[in-house]
Amino acid sequence: MIVLKSPREIATMREANRILALLFEHLQGLIQPGVTTAELDQEAELFIRSHNAVPAFKGYRGYPATLCTSVNEEVIHGIPSKRKLRKGDIVSIDVGAVYEGFYSDSARTFPVGEVSDDALRLMEATERALMEGIERARPGNRLHDISAAIQDVVERAGFSVVREFVGHGIGRSLHEDPQVPNFGRKGSGPLLQEGMTLAIEPMVNQGTWKVEILDDGWTAVTADGSLSAHFEHSIAITSNGPVILSVL
Ligand code: MF3
Ligand code: CO
Repeated sequence: MIVLKSPREIATMREANRILALLFEHLQGLIQPGVTTAELDQEAELFIRSHNAVPAFKGYRGYPATLCTSVNEEVIHGIPSKRKLRKGDIVSIDVGAVYEGFYSDSARTFPVGEVSDDALRLMEATERALMEGIERARPGNRLHDISAAIQDVVERAGFSVVREFVGHGIGRSLHEDPQVPNFGRKGSGPLLQEGMTLAIEPMVNQGTWKVEILDDGWTAVTADGSLSAHFEHSIAITSNGPVILSVL
């Protein structure tokens, strides 16, 4: 069942998501060679709590932290640790917060110092795929129009979309219907309607789309060890088209 949100509820979700955009701005300055992912996590938790919100992931199905910090071949759900980021790494930071009863969810991949041209191309294609997907999120379109647009950008760039993990509806729960795959056929899936709120989140690998889960039970890594990037926005579908909630 897809829960539609009122304009008032969407305004609250906008506030919940704005906190994440502010947080990314704050973290951007800290993402330098030598910083540990646990240090970023602690900063993020303090930042979210100081904005009258609580971390959404911490405690969710036993997840231990505020951020997911996935480095290089790690796709998603990397757990913050004493690992120091190094020049040339890329780190995907995924974060959610709960504010006045509503969830927010957003992710970005950051370069650590100077990174390879291949890494830059991967990040650029992933973000562009997200934006092309969001562009299709309007009343009258079908859900998989979003999915197909994402897949098209990614595959034209020579990369692959992860199949095992998908985007999702979001609202009073972190994960609501519908699932939002990053691959699919244009013209299929549920009809999009005003009031739907979605977390759209392409995970894109340089090589194979296949992933494996590490022994920690969380960290997803590319099966071939190639790099992976992840960009996510929470959006609302309005009569005028998509509104991105997780921006400043
Ligand atoms: N953006 C991810 C998702 O939608 C983050 C969840 S991490 C978890 O599932 F720890 F909360 F599971
Ligand atoms: Co999500």
